[in-house]
Amino acid sequence: MSDKATLILNDKSYELPLVKGTENEIGIDIKSLRASTGAITLDPGFKNTGSCESSITYLDGEKGILRYAGYAIEDLTNRANFLEVAYLLIFGELPNEAQYNKFFDDIKKQSYVNYNMVRILDGFPKSAHPMGVLASLTSALISFNPKTVDVESDEEMYKAIVKIMAKFPVLTAWVFRNSKDEVLTESDSDLDYVENLCQMFFKEEGKKYEQNPVIVNALNQLLILHADHEQNCSTSTVRIVGSSHAGLFASISAGISALWGRLHGGANQAVLEMLDAIMEDGGDTKKFMQKAKDKNDPFRLMGFGHRVYKNFDPRARIIKKAADEVLNDLGVSDPVLDIAKGLEEEALKDSYFVDRKLYPNVDFYSGVIYKAIGIPVEMFTVMFALGRLPGWIGQWREMRLQKQPIGRPRQIYVGPTHREFKPLAER
Ligand code: CMC
Repeated sequence: MSDKATLILNDKSYELPLVKGTENEIGIDIKSLRASTGAITLDPGFKNTGSCESSITYLDGEKGILRYAGYAIEDLTNRANFLEVAYLLIFGELPNEAQYNKFFDDIKKQSYVNYNMVRILDGFPKSAHPMGVLASLTSALISFNPKTVDVESDEEMYKAIVKIMAKFPVLTAWVFRNSKDEVLTESDSDLDYVENLCQMFFKEEGKKYEQNPVIVNALNQLLILHADHEQNCSTSTVRIVGSSHAGLFASISAGISALWGRLHGGANQAVLEMLDAIMEDGGDTKKFMQKAKDKNDPFRLMGFGHRVYKNFDPRARIIKKAADEVLNDLGVSDPVLDIAKGLEEEALKDSYFVDRKLYPNVDFYSGVIYKAIGIPVEMFTVMFALGRLPGWIGQWREMRLQKQPIGRPRQIYVGPTHREFKPLAER
């Protein structure tokens, strides 16, 4: 195969180099396009545009493959814990025992969150959406850690990473407890990362919290499955904000806002609201399938379809199985799971969904598990953010170390050409 692509523009021919990834993906390198031709590419939504070369996550949307730094998502969810996976995404290798213990100890030492943050939290109405509160608190963390990270310094970078990995779970637990008007909890250094999270979330005041291995295991799996997904909307946001040399915490706060939308991480909340609405309406899944297919109806089947997966989302496969197991182990019977399965069954044989290659995505079954383990619907996207944190950190670090130039797309202007200005009284 040639190592160049040829572009013919206005009868002139230009050669553009090709870039080949380790999994044989091909990119046309257009870095010199505008300088040599005067033209740019136009690709709203970046459906065909690579923004970087990355060694963190590989996915093949046609085959339904997802790997973090070469490791299959199925192996990681079954055999690793969330903190090992976080280390892998951030530093590129699974930790050995000494590296793991050091990472974990350093995180524990940084888990104290300045109590002035509580005053900020108190200022929000109880009805505030947890994602808005989380984005604000993450921004507020910057004021208590104002020094920008020198990315050339491994030590400074490591300190910033450990700080956000330590304080973010505390913030999520506070957001959760504050929304329920419950006393805030602190991190417990005797517990592992996910057990600590469970205790901070669910501990009742004055009572000892008993860990439930089913919940710990389910959370571990969900957090790992959400931990990275290459250049998705929130991750691209984190990278582009960081490309202006904004700090790590500021970039992550922007990522949280991007994740909130219903077409991205906010879909997990939207799925459960949709399933509840179908149930309340009498459970007629066919009626809602029809609405999803009707181009005059804004309704979409939430939790279905994906920009990159044109085959079963491998994360959805794992989560569907986990949903069954968790509900079984906890002895919960939730009619919403049956509605979800019914919708999936119908969609998989409906030509509208088959032709457009629309399959259940990661968000379709995750809400059923969150609900079963006691997480309310408005907190679902916060849980997604908690899982995505190491992915955002790893991608931010990679982008800065690659010395990526500031992200600044171009446009094709289609507005009015030059017009004569008229003063207010003459318009
Ligand atoms: N229900 C009904 N029709 C759909 C759906 C859906 N969920 N998703 C896509 N379509 C149709 C869409 O109307 C279009 O049809 P046509 O070709 O006739 O115009 C076609 O399928 C292609 O859709 P698209 O919107 O051009 O595809 P996209 O790549 O821009 O959007 C998506 C991907 C995820 C935003 C979209 O599938 C969607 O809105 N899904 C529902 C929201 C959702 O579940 N989001 C979570 C994504 S996974 C978690 C994450 O990583 O964020």
